[in-house]
Amino acid sequence: RYQPTPDDKFSFGLWTVGWQGRDPFGEATRAPLDPAESVRHLADLGAYGVTFHDDDLIPFGASETERESHVKRFRQALDATGLTVPMATTNLFTHPVFKDGAFTANDRDVRRYALRKTIRNIDLAAELGARTYVAWGGREGAESGAAKDVRAALDRMKEAFDLLGEYVTTQGYDLRFAIEPKPNEPRGDILLPTVGHALAFIERLERPELYGVNPEVGHEQMAGLNFPHSIAQALWAGKLFHIDLNGQSGIKYDQDLRFGAGDLRSAFWLVDLLERGGYEGPRHFDFKPPRTEDYAGVWESAAGCMRNYLILRERAAAFRADPEVQEALRASRLDELALPTAAEGLPQLLSDRAAFEDFDVDSAAARGMAFERLDQLAMDHLLGVR
Ligand code: GCO
Ligand code: MN
Ligand code: MN
Ligand code: MN
Repeated sequence: RYQPTPDDKFSFGLWTVGWQGRDPFGEATRAPLDPAESVRHLADLGAYGVTFHDDDLIPFGASETERESHVKRFRQALDATGLTVPMATTNLFTHPVFKDGAFTANDRDVRRYALRKTIRNIDLAAELGARTYVAWGGREGAESGAAKDVRAALDRMKEAFDLLGEYVTTQGYDLRFAIEPKPNEPRGDILLPTVGHALAFIERLERPELYGVNPEVGHEQMAGLNFPHSIAQALWAGKLFHIDLNGQSGIKYDQDLRFGAGDLRSAFWLVDLLERGGYEGPRHFDFKPPRTEDYAGVWESAAGCMRNYLILRERAAAFRADPEVQEALRASRLDELALPTAAEGLPQLLSDRAAFEDFDVDSAAARGMAFERLDQLAMDHLLGVR
């Protein structure tokens, strides 16, 4: 029970289980992990996919021969385990050259270098069969006011994404971009801080259909936002191309806890939404096993992400199937919300006296919404007591 299989489409970044536990206050607590070893372990645990930044697989600055041998070893591990590579991304934040960002760095030569580094890894992503290319603008931002002309930086951001879109189009790659928002950390303020900002930005691009979002649970929560609401809007816009699942406890530093840790009720509503909302992409975990853990704890943590997803999937399905819940949903008039407000059109609305002149506002105001009963039923299902 709760044993993941490849059909569940769980995937992990190499940088998640491979995180050595370096933080701003302390050195690594774990030895480096060989990517091929990660692939084998993740396959054993029941994952179907693995994702990577260029530098997770091929150390920054590796020679062409070293590069080939790293890719070859990785491919062999993929072939041996059947794991796929649904997504890849670029590290545009670790090397000091990116200290002021990449696509929006004030230094033009850094921007040009960042684009070439990205394009180089897009080729590898396409070669390995990835369908999604994630772009997290970790250092696209600022700590102080005059340091960044935000409107000019957005022009450069648009220019970068348009060039990348042109590249995949002319190459004929079957690859779409997923922009990952985050409000802050490592920069004081990061551009495209929330899902809403990213969705608005995408509509300004030359080929908007090529771009969607890769929202991360903790990042919206760092901004105090309701993650399932952000996901619902992304789905509504047809833009949920990918997702980073993890856990976060409120507005503080980016915790990247295993999925299900942190805000459990939000995780319940998220799984309910993903499972019913038509999202068919990978269930991708972007978490950091706490630096207190040795490798036994790392694999425990990775297994926990999947286990928690499966438990929540079961609880959410039981909630939806419960006849009392269905009754409570009607009592809360969710069926009515699904009806258009003025299906007969504006003239009919304007001439309908029942809509305004004869409308009994006081009795409508007095109607209870019965949301508390509905929410307690959800709580009972989540806690496993129904
Ligand atoms: C974070 C981010 C990163 C990105 C990843 C992809 O936690 O700040 O999620 O982990 O997702 O680096 O570029
Ligand atoms: Mn992420
Ligand atoms: Mn994060
Ligand atoms: Mn992360």
